[in-house]
Amino acid sequence: MNITIGRSRPLVGEFQVPGDKSVSHRALMLSALADGTSEILGLLEADDTESTAHCLQQLGVKINRKGLATLVEGRGLSSLIQPKDDLDAGNSGTTMRLLSGILAGQPFRSTLTGDDSLRKRPMNRVIEPLSRMGAKLEASTSGTPPVTIHGKKPLQPIEYQLPVPSAQVKSAIILAGLFADGTTRVIEPVLSRDHTERMLGLDIETGKRGRSIRVGGGMTIPPRQYRVPGDISSAMFLICAALLVPKSEIFIRNAGLNPTRTRALDLLGSVGAKIRIEGVEEISGEPYGTVSAAFSHLKGEVRIDPSTIPLVIDEIPVLAATLAVAGCAFEVRGAGELRHKESDRISAIVRNLREMSVAVEEYPDGFAFESKKTVLPAIVETSGDHRIAMAFAVAGMALDGGMAIPDPEVASISFPGFWDSIRRFQ
Ligand code: S3P
Repeated sequence: MNITIGRSRPLVGEFQVPGDKSVSHRALMLSALADGTSEILGLLEADDTESTAHCLQQLGVKINRKGLATLVEGRGLSSLIQPKDDLDAGNSGTTMRLLSGILAGQPFRSTLTGDDSLRKRPMNRVIEPLSRMGAKLEASTSGTPPVTIHGKKPLQPIEYQLPVPSAQVKSAIILAGLFADGTTRVIEPVLSRDHTERMLGLDIETGKRGRSIRVGGGMTIPPRQYRVPGDISSAMFLICAALLVPKSEIFIRNAGLNPTRTRALDLLGSVGAKIRIEGVEEISGEPYGTVSAAFSHLKGEVRIDPSTIPLVIDEIPVLAATLAVAGCAFEVRGAGELRHKESDRISAIVRNLREMSVAVEEYPDGFAFESKKTVLPAIVETSGDHRIAMAFAVAGMALDGGMAIPDPEVASISFPGFWDSIRRFQ
C-alpha cells in the first residue's frame, strides 16, 4: 500500500494517542515478575508491545484481556519456564535488550531473535555487563542477534558505569540486578529515560560520576495496577502537524510528561511553538497531563547539545522534518546512537531531506541544515522505520503535492492509528 499525505486542513479538537511504548514494555515485564496478577490499563497495542507479550507468554506468563484492562499473571522472580522455541522480539530493541536482562538471571538457556532490522542492531552493550554478572551470552561475531543466553542463578551484583547513554542498557542491568546476590549499581553519566527506576521505586543518588541507581537482588515485585499514559513520542507527530498547518489547534489528554521525555517540546518552544501543558497529575509514578498545540510561525534555529540527545532521541526525525518545512535551522551533534535505531536514522533523515531539496550536512554523529524558504515534496524512503515514515508524513501535511509513503504499515510498530488520525484532515 502506498499513500500520499498532502496539504492538510486545519487539525482541530481532541486527539487520542496510544499508550506509551516504553512504559508498556516495562509494565508487561514487571507484571510478569510480580507475585500475583497485575492489571494494566492503557497498554499500547502495537507490534512492538505484542512482541514483548508473546515472548513473556513463551516464558509461561498468562496474559489476557478483560474489557479495557490487560491482566498479567505474574510468576514471581523464580518461576519463568524455559521457552520451547526462540523468542522473537520482532522489530523491538527494547524487548530484546530488557528481556536479555531478565533471561540472564534464569537457570536455563534461551535464544532471542528478531526481524532483519533488529538482527543488525548492536547487542554487545548488554552482553558485556550481563556477562560480568555471570551469565553466558553468545551473539554473532559482530555482536548482533540472535543472542543465546545461558542464564545463571544467582547472578553476581556489579557496579557498572554506562559507556553509552541508553535506557535500554540501564534497564537490562537493573532487571538482571533483581536476580543478583546483593546490590547492583548502575551509574549513568548522562540522564536517559527513567521509567524502569520509577516503576520499581529504586534509590537514586546523584554524585560526581552522574546518577547512580541501586537495585537489591531478590526484591519482591508486588502485583499492582499500572495506568499507562499516552505516548508523548507519538503525540509529537500530531503536535508538529498542528504547528505546521495554519489554523490548527489540538489537545492531547493523558499525554505522558515524564521530564526525561519532553525536551522536544522545550526545543520547539524555543523557536516560537505555541505549546501548552495543563492539568499535570501523576499516575503509577509517571506525570501526565494535557498538551495543546496551535499553528505557529516557527523561526530561528535549534542546536542540540550531546547531553540532551538521550532526552529527544526518538523525536529527532520529526523535529528534523518539521524544522526543515518551517524554515528553521537545525543542528544535531553527539547523536551517533541514532545510527543504531530501527534504521540508521541519521542517513534516513539526511537522504529524505535532500530529496526535499534541503542542503543537509551529514556528520558521523549527526547532521545540520540552515533555514530554507522552499522545501519540495518527495517520495519518502522509510527504511522500514516507523518514526521516519510518520515524521515525513507530517512534513507532507504542510506541502503542496505531499509526501508519498510507500510502506505506511510500518507505523503499526508504535502508533497503529496514526494514518486514521491524520487522514481525517486530508
Ligand atoms: C527506549 C530507549 C531508547 C529509545 C527507544 C526506547 C526504552 O533507546 O530510543 O525507543 O524504552 O528504554 P536506547 O536506550 O537505545 O537509547
